[in-house]
Amino acid sequence: MTKILVVDSAGDNIESYARVVDKWLAGDVVAFPTETVYGLGADARNAEAVAKIFEAKSRPADNPLIVHIAETKQLQGIAASVPKKAKRAMDAFWPGPFTAILPVVSGAVAENVTAGLSTVGVRMPSHPVARELLKQAGIPIAAPSANRSGKPSPTSASHVAEDLDGRIPLIVDGGPATAGLESTVVDFSVEPPALLRPGSVTEEMLIAVVGEVQGAGRLREEQAPKAPGMKYTHYAPDAPVRLAFLEEDGVAEKLARLREAGRRVALVAVEEHRGLPHDAFLSLGKAGDWAGISRELFAALRACNQLDVDVIVAGAYPREGLGQALMNRLEKAAGGEYL
Ligand code: TXA
Ligand code: MG
Repeated sequence: MTKILVVDSAGDNIESYARVVDKWLAGDVVAFPTETVYGLGADARNAEAVAKIFEAKSRPADNPLIVHIAETKQLQGIAASVPKKAKRAMDAFWPGPFTAILPVVSGAVAENVTAGLSTVGVRMPSHPVARELLKQAGIPIAAPSANRSGKPSPTSASHVAEDLDGRIPLIVDGGPATAGLESTVVDFSVEPPALLRPGSVTEEMLIAVVGEVQGAGRLREEQAPKAPGMKYTHYAPDAPVRLAFLEEDGVAEKLARLREAGRRVALVAVEEHRGLPHDAFLSLGKAGDWAGISRELFAALRACNQLDVDVIVAGAYPREGLGQALMNRLEKAAGGEYL
């Protein structure tokens, strides 16, 4: 039912791109690659088209969507004002894994995009396929991550198909996502700006450009009530996830005891922890390669669903740089539970 359209950055994709743009203009949804995760896009001005996104994902209606643009000038019709700090951040991080929350021009996008809020999230992705599609469409595209609500975000076209096959007409396959974690979301409608969701644009990078930010550090649900999406269960594979600082003493014993009790353990960790007791090992690559770990995390959590395991133990990381974004996703996947 769902078609998969492979686009190859080396090839000529004119017809494929035209097909996607036609679908968007006709009020349909299409999944497409971005550098963070795959998105499920629709014409942001068309409430009926946007409603199809919520339906396909089974997404709660009070969780607003990010609007994607190809060029800064498209902001004019969407954001009622652009504070200086937002402008500086956009200059620094666009195109890229960064979303700015700004006051919305009333009527600029459909009501269900913003879930009735007076602000809108805007992002200019850097993925060449996303950029070309957005440029050719010439309209703002509302797009959440292209997963079923509650599942880990999709970092490949096959992840999208896993969740949404038969529920959407078309998936554009542009290969694996390179960043692997969703964009950093910053609210510029408050002062100082609030970091609502950490991502590949790290808190340190953000502070270097805009100065002080709030809600930073250990982002907790109650400190970030303004990103409605953060209050729902997220990133959850089927088996329960438990976090652990795997280099600490006693971890090997705890894992061994679980296995002795008949629990099958999947370990989601960097290579240096392969020696710990486990039934399945999902590698996140080399310790210290933060970009690599970020890129692999969601695929590893998803892969656990293909395994017969009772518990998933995931390595925990220091909350600095990309570690902050990784821990934000991991703590949600684990519901805050440690081994
Ligand atoms: O990297 C990304 O951001 C991906 C790709 C596809 O661009 N998109 C994505 O969208 O992750 P989604 O819908 O899965 O996450 C958007 C987050 C949610 O937590 C939502 O609540 C928050 O951004 N958000 C969107 N608009 C908002 C607004 N006006 N005010 C506060 N939070 C907002
Ligand atoms: Mg999402």
